Parts: sequence; structure tokens; C-alpha cells
Amino acid sequence: MPKFEPVLLARVGKPDSQKLETYRRDGGYEALKKALAMSPEEVTNVVKDSGLRGRGGAGFPTGLKWTFLPKNHTGPIYLAINADESEPGTFNNRILMEDDPHQILEGIAISCHAIKSERAYLYLRFEYGKSYRNLQAAIDECYAAGILGNNSMGSGKKLDIFLHRGAGAYICGEETGLIESLEGKRAWPRIKPPFPAIEGLFRKPTIVNNIETMACVTHILNRGVEWFKSIGVPPDPKNPRDAGSYGPKLYCLSGHVNKPGCYELPLGVTARELIFEHGGGIPHGRKVKAVVPGGISMGFLSADELDIPLDFNGPGKVGCLGLGTAAVVVVDDSISIVDVLYNCCRFFSHESCGQCTPCREGTAWMTKILERMRSGHGTTRDLDLLAEVSGSIGIIPGTTICGLSDGAAWPVKNAIKKFRPEFEEYIASGKKTARVPVGAH
Ligand SMILES: Cc1cc2nc3c(=O)[nH]c(=O)nc-3n(C[C@H](O)[C@H](O)[C@H](O)COP(=O)(O)O)c2cc1C
Ligand code: SF4
Repeated sequence: MPKFEPVLLARVGKPDSQKLETYRRDGGYEALKKALAMSPEEVTNVVKDSGLRGRGGAGFPTGLKWTFLPKNHTGPIYLAINADESEPGTFNNRILMEDDPHQILEGIAISCHAIKSERAYLYLRFEYGKSYRNLQAAIDECYAAGILGNNSMGSGKKLDIFLHRGAGAYICGEETGLIESLEGKRAWPRIKPPFPAIEGLFRKPTIVNNIETMACVTHILNRGVEWFKSIGVPPDPKNPRDAGSYGPKLYCLSGHVNKPGCYELPLGVTARELIFEHGGGIPHGRKVKAVVPGGISMGFLSADELDIPLDFNGPGKVGCLGLGTAAVVVVDDSISIVDVLYNCCRFFSHESCGQCTPCREGTAWMTKILERMRSGHGTTRDLDLLAEVSGSIGIIPGTTICGLSDGAAWPVKNAIKKFRPEFEEYIASGKKTARVPVGAH
């Protein structure tokens, strides 16, 4: 693999990095110029050929998603950009939006050209005040400079980008929940099909993509397919469903680690390299107990699984749901896995939108079982019950509307399987770590 050069974070931290003037000085909006000289189909093919997979969690191939739009559609097509960023431990979108918003706006403009859309909505996590201010200022600069508006870059095409502040819930990040919320309703995910590409925002064909995905589009147009494919990992020949993991990735590193932060690295870096070489290891010489590989909905790696690559295929090899948002959270050996799992369950129970019985009841039930354990009243039967409930509430085999329930189930499945002796020891000791009365969550 050629020497890796960060691109997504290249401008972060430089003076006035959020301003159009400095962005243009660094070659900004040249990729858009290039794209506008190509046909929408050609741009889509470039993104398809690059192997770019969505950075929002599911890793769906971006160019392929764009081809699901109806052909020869005459009405409006929308691009909805997902900046809800609520997966615990994830903050890479925020850094891009605060420090280099034009990089994202350029990717959005290129993507709108590719999907023949005149209008993009950027759905922003409500709590991100600085992102809101910097993005809106950057959008205003684009209108003033003729990059956006009725004659975008002199192309004769219309392009508008609207910034929309979110409704403040994790479920607003699920793509159809986001669409409902953009329409001014409660963010209740929709039953699919129809998928958004056919019937999305305002019932019109809509593509939903993540912020980091948009930043990648800018660099693919700038530097080309070969450059993008020279970074990362090709498809695993042993896994016919793996589409490869190409390009740079922003890994968020937090928890018990000496140097937490956002690291741009080639897809496929191992958890060990990320934590020990880039993150400086574990404070106070303690040991790793568990590592969240990509947001808590992906489950846990145990201490002897740190050599798996953090690409789209790697975490699945050791029983995790996937790479997710690549938010890596380190838990050291001073922390009880019972407490860690309780926090995960409490989060999902709170964030379940309540439409589907298995998700609404299952997440609350798992939280109650862990509360019981943490108040010293758990039994080993509770472990089997947790395993049973977590195995029954997911979208597979089609019991719920969205993926939140799977995300809620995975940490439980992994924890019981990988850390069962610690749970048994905890129960046998009659230990109490609950700081809240049972039932008070
Ligand atoms: C409960 C839930 C929450 C989600 N939250 C986010 C989010 O905050 N940001 C995001 O980009 N994708 C999130 N997703 C994934 C989106 O549904 C969708 O797959 C993604 O925005 C598509 O963009 P991409 O193809 O560029 O990755 C979430 C999914 C689920 C099930
Ligand atoms: S799975 Fe959970 S979060 Fe998703 S729609 Fe059903 S109840 Fe709501």
C-alpha cells in the first residue's frame, strides 16, 4: 500500500479553514467544476468504480444506491444529508462540519449533479451549534459566490442547499425517521419498501447519504478512482458478499485511551494499531477489557480480538454486527462489563421510538434485567433470558421496522457470549453497583 496521506482532515486546524477564500486557495471547488463538465451518469460511474461505501453505518455502496433512483423521472429528486450523528462515541461528522464545511458542500453539489437533483437538505444534529453556524456561513458564502443558486457555477443549473436542525433523538438518524422529521413530523421510521430512492422526502425519490460520504465524493472527483482504490482493503475472496473497503476513514477513538481523538487512517487498520500506536495505549498501565469497534450498536471485541481489521468485513468475523460508524470506545479492566452493558441497554431503551413491540418491550426488558443484576438480585437464569431476548428483537427475520433493535441486541449478545464468566462471578458475589433505585431509568 502506498504511503498514506490524510485528505479528509488535511485542512482541519489550519487558520480560517472554514472560509471559502482559504478553501479555494487550497484548490476547492475544482472537483465540482470537473464534475459539471461530465454527464450525471459519468459522475455516478466514477463514484461506483471507486468502490466508495457509505460512512454512516451500514456501508452500502454509494454509487450503486444512486442507480436505484427511477430512470427518466421528471419531477423533483432530493438529496438528504444525514448529519444527525448520535451513535455514542461518534464525532467525525462534527469535526468536518465545524472545520471544513466547504469540503462537504462541494461533495453535496457534485452528488446533486450526479443524481439530477436541484435541492439538498442537510439534517443536522440539533446539539451541534458550531456546526450549524459554520455550515450556514459557508452556504451563505456559496450563494454569494454563485456556487449555489439559480445558475450554479455558471452551469445554467439550479442548486439549493437547506440546513435543517434536527429534533434531538437518536432515531432521527435512521434514514426514514430523518425523512419524517424533515417533513415536520415525529421521527418514526417508515416501513420499507418503498425505499427512499423510490419514495422518500415529500414522497419523491430521495438519496440519503452521510457527511463523511460526501467528503469522500469530493476527493474521488479530485484525485480519481485509482487513488481511492489504492487505500484500504480489496474484497475478501472468502466472503462473496464483501464489496471491499476502499478509501480513507475517520476513526473516532475514545474511552480509556491516552490520546483520544479523530484519526484519519486507511480502512483496515487494526484495533490494536489504532489504540496502541495512534492512541498511545491505556492510561495507568491498565489492560483492555473490551473494545466497541464502531459505535455501541456493533457489539464488543474482547481483549484477544484486537488484531481484526477495522474494515467493513472485519468486526463481523468475530461476531460483531459490523464496522458501523468506526467509533472505537476502549473499556479497561477497572470497569465491570455489567455496568457497561447496563449503560448500552439504558440508551437503546430510551431511544427506541416505540412503534414495534419487540424493540419497545425488548429494550426495556433487557434494561430491567440488568438493573436487577446491578442491585444484587440477579440469577444465572437472567443471562439466558438476556441471550434469548437479544436473539429475538432484531430486524432479522423481519420483526421490526428499523435497525435500532438489532443495534440494541448486538452488545447484549456479544457481552453474554464473550464475558459470561464475569457476569456469573458478578451474580455469585451478590455485588451491587446500581447507583439508581431499581425501575428509576
Ligand atoms: C437507529 C439508527 C440511527 C442511525 N443514525 C445515523 C446517523 O446519525 N448518521 C448517519 O449517517 N446514518 C445513520 N444511520 C444510518 C442511516 O439510516 C443511513 O443508512 C445512512 O445515513 C446512509 O448514508 P451512507 O450510505 O452515506 O452511509 C442510522 C441508522 C439507524 C438504524
Ligand atoms: S425498531 Fe425500534 S426504533 Fe425502529 S421503528 Fe421499531 S420501535 Fe422504532
